[in-house]
Amino acid sequence: MIETGRPHSARIYDYLLGGKDNYRVDQQAGDELVAAAQERAVARANRAFLERAVRHVVGAGLRQVLDIGTGLPHSPNVHEVALEVAPDVRVAYVDNDPIVTAHADALLRSSDLIGVALADLRDPQGVLEHPQVRQVIDFDRPVALVLTSVLHFLTDAQEPQRAVATLRDALPAGSCLVLSHATDDAADCRAAQAVYATATTPLTPRSHPEIEKFLDGFELLPPGLVPAPSWRPDTPATPRPATTAIYAAIARKAT
Ligand SMILES: C[S@@+](CC[C@H](N)C(=O)[O-])C[C@H]1O[C@@H](n2cnc3c(N)ncnc32)[C@H](O)[C@@H]1O
Repeated sequence: MIETGRPHSARIYDYLLGGKDNYRVDQQAGDELVAAAQERAVARANRAFLERAVRHVVGAGLRQVLDIGTGLPHSPNVHEVALEVAPDVRVAYVDNDPIVTAHADALLRSSDLIGVALADLRDPQGVLEHPQVRQVIDFDRPVALVLTSVLHFLTDAQEPQRAVATLRDALPAGSCLVLSHATDDAADCRAAQAVYATATTPLTPRSHPEIEKFLDGFELLPPGLVPAPSWRPDTPATPRPATTAIYAAIARKAT
């Protein structure tokens, strides 16, 4: 069901990134977040990491991307970044928000190489079996699993570890996990959490060791699990915002 009376994480994020696919409630929540923290900088740092990560995994030879919690379309979208590196990349976009998948379907499903699925990370088997996912992803070949800025929208009771493990076990060796996750290690997230408490999904920031556990069964690529702006920055000399509020990593499944 589409809920427009309460702020929603996808539409708040869209507002923070300067998009138009959001409602007054989302704008109010976004403004409160900006007042509370460096949320806009965090959203941009996360998005910039996502672009660098997609370029990296496609550059390393992966030709399939399963992007779960994809968010409202923002150019450059994952497939646009990927296609700049290789023209034969296949991308499955998955989100549990019908507004996101309606927009994604209209804007992104431009070819048979792209699928859009309405499915929920809390039901990883349902994601793996979704016809739109199956249509573009061959699970016998390596996959880049993208879980950026989504696992913190699952509470511990919703078993995010189990969801990631189920997805990992479905991937062949050579696959990669692209991960980013909010943390309260260095930043005070209480104000942001208070805003998300009024939204459709609460925010659950986690510590470095807790986030590292999502990478069990994968081998971390250098520089490891680090603040998103520090993950292989394009221009090391560029001053980085204080966005330790989100950690990022790429890890590879070896066996
Ligand atoms: C902050 S956006 C992240 C967008 C994109 N991954 C990025 O990093 O730029 C979070 C997205 O996760 C989606 N989401 C939240 N909980 C989810 C769940 N249980 N299953 C699938 N998607 C979910 C939201 O609808 C939203 O579109």
